[in-house]
Amino acid sequence: MGWKTLDDMDLDGKTVLVRVDINVPLDDAGNVTDATRIERIVPTVSDILAKGGKPVLLAHFGRPKGQVVPEMSLRPLVPALQSAFGVPVKFAENCIGGPAKIAVSELQPGEVLLLENTRFHAQETENAPQFAAALGALGEVYVNDAFSAAHRAHASTEGVAHLLPSCAGRLMEAELKALEAALSDPLRPLTAVVGGAKVSTKLDLLGNLVEKVNFLVIGGGMANTFLAAQGIDVGKSLCEHEMADTAREILAKAEAAGCEIVLPTDVVVAREFKAGAENEVVAADACPADAMILDAGPATVEAVSDVFAKSRTLIWNGPLGAFEIVPFDAATVAAAQKAAEMTRAGTLVSVAGGGDTVAALNHAGVADDFTYISTAGGAFLEWMEGKTLPGVAALEG
Ligand code: 3PG
Repeated sequence: MGWKTLDDMDLDGKTVLVRVDINVPLDDAGNVTDATRIERIVPTVSDILAKGGKPVLLAHFGRPKGQVVPEMSLRPLVPALQSAFGVPVKFAENCIGGPAKIAVSELQPGEVLLLENTRFHAQETENAPQFAAALGALGEVYVNDAFSAAHRAHASTEGVAHLLPSCAGRLMEAELKALEAALSDPLRPLTAVVGGAKVSTKLDLLGNLVEKVNFLVIGGGMANTFLAAQGIDVGKSLCEHEMADTAREILAKAEAAGCEIVLPTDVVVAREFKAGAENEVVAADACPADAMILDAGPATVEAVSDVFAKSRTLIWNGPLGAFEIVPFDAATVAAAQKAAEMTRAGTLVSVAGGGDTVAALNHAGVADDFTYISTAGGAFLEWMEGKTLPGVAALEG
């Protein structure tokens, strides 16, 4: 933990550049539909204000690829930020140059300034030194509170950290502490649940996890690839047959490392991919040729619950089945509820993150019961893969 926190910084009277991730979903009318990422940066902004600093927010929105794309302006987020922070939020229509400099010079104590989308400049994603310098010239201290963008070596997440006294914001601090407790120095036995559609997108992750965890539960479409790699006919199920060798290698690596892999022993199959489709539970090696596996079956859920029961730490990424369509959410919901129950009882440390995972836990009604839910998608995956996140490394000096 070689990074500083807000507690280590003198912010009184200083302009503080704060990299935040407010890449939040909006509806057609421009209203924020999930404000989690905004709510989670409030402690950082409040603490900077309380220490007499003037927060200037740097952020991206979408992927405008170095062009000014009006639909990807950050301006529509000002009301949501204002209501979350409870102080006036000013806006500058460019993150560098005249508009930014003027807005910074006019910023009053107790106010927050939001700068326009950093990705409207191609030099942001190129991490161009002159662009980082232009950002750095706007402030006296740099705070990175965007763990969920820390896998990007961009000027606002990485370059500028080398130019100013830097530290982690409260959300970054919380994310790093929770994730380190879960994977770097966990209470054991340690179990990981990895689900989702494809093995090919989670190869590095599976490869890293089998070396670190005691139990690895594999679910979702990717479990089909593992079943098929063991010679099981998975009918019309989503399956990457071309990944069979890779799946077998992962199984062998797990065995050598003493990691127990938990695959479905029974599955829920249907002939249509739609809500309420007629379905049946069959053994994992008895999927009819014209059917597809859409969820893990009850015996598998029981086996997963037994594994949870002997675990002290759980790290979860990806659903166990097609949780978006009822009733194929059953295994994900039941396993999530078991993890939540153990967490509430104080016998399990549970950490979850990445894309669909949070949606799945919300759907199961247990997101508040997990020990920690990361705000990160891609960054959570890269961290689980054991990769160094450039935005975090830059804070370590
Ligand atoms: C995210 O939404 O996961 C982050 O904001 C990163 O966005 P990106 O994948 O466009 O870099």
